[in-house]
Amino acid sequence: MSLLPGEWLEPLLTEDQILTRVKDLAAQIRADYGDEDVLLVGVLKGSYLFLADLARNLGLNASIEFVQVSSYHDQKSTSGVVQIRKDVDTTMEGKHVLIVEDIVDTGLTLKHLKELFEVRRPRSLEVCSLLRKPEAIEHDALVKYVGFDIPSAFVVGYGLDYGERFRTLPYIAVLHES
Ligand code: IMP
Ligand code: MG
Repeated sequence: MSLLPGEWLEPLLTEDQILTRVKDLAAQIRADYGDEDVLLVGVLKGSYLFLADLARNLGLNASIEFVQVSSYHDQKSTSGVVQIRKDVDTTMEGKHVLIVEDIVDTGLTLKHLKELFEVRRPRSLEVCSLLRKPEAIEHDALVKYVGFDIPSAFVVGYGLDYGERFRTLPYIAVLHES
């Protein structure tokens, strides 16, 4: 992976910090759901590493599905348009559904997804997001499990991209451009 001229990365969260927090979140989720089955719905692509680390710390009661939505279109600011590009392959009716997101910024994506999923009559519907930006804090009810509250900067790595770049960076960094 290469940086373009004028770009630089400012490390924000190390691999260790992330994994420690992910294990905390998993413990909290296990305590809350007990022996009940949980359907994890990862939001592609940004949540792929977070979901992998979370899932392997959740034990055997979790199953995995994915959705893909697009709201950013390779830009750094939200377009305001949320599009469903891939849906889950199973029913949600009567199940405990936990949406797994990489980051909540405006909350637009999650609000849309939750409305869509509510109609499918899950037994419960909650959200676990690794990161949350200040803009989203006012929508308190949106996300039950939050890994880190971060400043309002554009971050990449650990699954998060900028125009499909940086997803494979193992830690999280602020992307600066001069
Ligand atoms: P929201 O709809 O404004 O909450 O935006 C949510 C989506 O935008 C996330 O799921 C990410 O895919 C993307 N996004 C928001 N902020 C960032 C960022 O700082 N880095 C990379 N992607 C981001
Ligand atoms: Mg996302």
